[in-house]
Amino acid sequence: MADTLAADAVVSLIRGRFGIPYLFRDSCASTQRLLTPELPEGATAVCERQTAGRGRLERRWEAPPAAAILCSVLLRPPVMTGVAGLTLVAGLAVARVVERALGRPCQLKWPNDVLVSGRKIAGVLGESRGGVVILGIGLNVNQDESELPERPVLPATSLFAVDGIRRRRAPLLAELLFELEQLYGHWLGGRLSELAGELASRDYLRGRHVTVGDVTGTAVGIAPDGRLEVETSAGRQLVASGDVRVEPSA
Ligand code: BTN
Repeated sequence: MADTLAADAVVSLIRGRFGIPYLFRDSCASTQRLLTPELPEGATAVCERQTAGRGRLERRWEAPPAAAILCSVLLRPPVMTGVAGLTLVAGLAVARVVERALGRPCQLKWPNDVLVSGRKIAGVLGESRGGVVILGIGLNVNQDESELPERPVLPATSLFAVDGIRRRRAPLLAELLFELEQLYGHWLGGRLSELAGELASRDYLRGRHVTVGDVTGTAVGIAPDGRLEVETSAGRQLVASGDVRVEPSA
């Protein structure tokens, strides 16, 4: 079967609520814009090509047609909190799926990057709008090195670039949606605390010297509410959002 994320290829593989309804387009501006707040929780938008794919902090998200997983999932948490925790939950779901696929460790760089061997394989964009949270996930699957975006600080990679295997994306997407649903269930029950051990073991920044905005120090972990904990010369500080620069170690 051809490698496609069209509904015919994906819907029969969906094992839970996430992925229903399944809104597929060959091309769209951004899957983030296909989901409207009246849709049920778990509604998922997927496309083969985005003309205006977006990353965090108004950056662009680029991928050649039909090579990556580009999807957005609608969540309706009962208590509207910040999206930081849910972004991490999605990052964990991606990390689990990537790690199983590659058989190699996968880390999270707070707040939204998924890394393999220090290179970014996926990113998560969490946005709240109209009382719902839209989690957008971009996972590089079949791009070869020449098709990956140039990223000056954190180089990009894909599953194919790591192990040379071309994969059908439909089973991967179905697995990702199921994993996200399971982890979201944990999050609903106990916020991030149940997942704290796994977050700590995947935390790429832990022990590194970092600067986020005007905070500089050693990243020591991720707090239960999803904030980054940084040990500074003035004591421990919690950072809610921002772009982390990793400083060369002394
Ligand atoms: C980031 O790393 O900055 C987040 C990237 C998120 C990209 C995905 S691709 C599917 C969804 N639609 C978008 O426009 N962005 C997200």
